[in-house]
Amino acid sequence: MKVVVLAGGGGTRLFPLSRQDYPKQFLTIGGEMSLLAQTIHRFLRVVEPRDIVVVTNHAYYHHVQIELRKWGVEQAHVILEPDARNTAPAIALSARYCLDLLGCSPDEVLFVAPSDHLVRPEEAYAEKIREAVQVAQEGRIVTFGIQPTKAETGYGYIQAGEARDNGFAVRRFTEKPDRARAEAFLAEGGYYWNSGMFAFTIGCLVEEIEAHQPDLAQLLRLPFEEMLGRFAESPSISIDNAVAEKSSRVVVLPFSLYWNDIGCWDAIFEALPKDTEGNVVAGDCIPFQCRETLLMSNGRLVAGIGLEDTLVVETPDVIVVARRGESQKIKEVVDQLKQRK
Ligand code: GDD
Ligand code: MG
Repeated sequence: MKVVVLAGGGGTRLFPLSRQDYPKQFLTIGGEMSLLAQTIHRFLRVVEPRDIVVVTNHAYYHHVQIELRKWGVEQAHVILEPDARNTAPAIALSARYCLDLLGCSPDEVLFVAPSDHLVRPEEAYAEKIREAVQVAQEGRIVTFGIQPTKAETGYGYIQAGEARDNGFAVRRFTEKPDRARAEAFLAEGGYYWNSGMFAFTIGCLVEEIEAHQPDLAQLLRLPFEEMLGRFAESPSISIDNAVAEKSSRVVVLPFSLYWNDIGCWDAIFEALPKDTEGNVVAGDCIPFQCRETLLMSNGRLVAGIGLEDTLVVETPDVIVVARRGESQKIKEVVDQLKQRK
């Protein structure tokens, strides 16, 4: 088994802390390790560092190297994509790397995971990974399904079918539906959120890419170095749209451990420990008569007085103040900012 850690996304949903040149996976949230380092650490219960492949954009090479060195896992492999083409090409390139440079056979299972989530407890997670690997060995594409709690539009939705392999066959996989569809899924019941983690054999992945993504399949037939050289020709598409939505081999295993994709400041508020008034305080801050508020300083002192349900994030050049529950809208602020430039 090899673990593929996807660490090339350039998300800005945690603006102003995450930026295009310093995305979420490198942030330190809920501990002293970055989310990437925490991700790698979780897998060390299941594999050796040399069985881990981190696939990232060449722009993030130094950030990844620093993390690997800092936490003593330099033996992990690092693949540098010349261009960001989303997760399907990143995973295909990793599969090619495993075949050509690590001597894997098509029967080798890849466990693919994002680098910017929180999952715990670690031992129970390791058990779930082992379970997923067993099912993947039978030729399935295994996903973990999270019980949905709201009509979130940032996730994939998995409609469970008949019972199969400790979980369910997938009747339909819908990546990021609009709000109306998400609400309809929730009302209908029998849906899971896609956790973003996948397990499959390399052979299964290759077959599904051959079946559903002919342009990517052409590149995947090339030896690793050639595929890397022609990576810009690859379509830009997520594994969810490219394979999960189309394949009939997807199985969902219900996942009831703590999972948080830290997709916005509200999710960070939810994930971090609170003081007696329910505040999250990070860095040099004074929460005076504040309740259920997040204060985060990254240099200057932040003093809040009488705040409730508020998110305050200070960085050297930007301060964001938001009402709790509204932090998803940061994306629109970032869009406005881009238009200014
Ligand atoms: N190497 C590489 N190259 N990694 C990438 C690239 C790329 O071009 N694009 C994204 N990634 C990495 C991100 O850094 C992250 O760790 C992971 O791949 C997933 O990408 P996201 O961009 O965060 O995906 P998402 O959150 O919008 O959606 C996915 O995750 C949801 C759960 O959080 C999907 O799988 C959804 O179906 C799922 O619900
Ligand atoms: Mg994500």
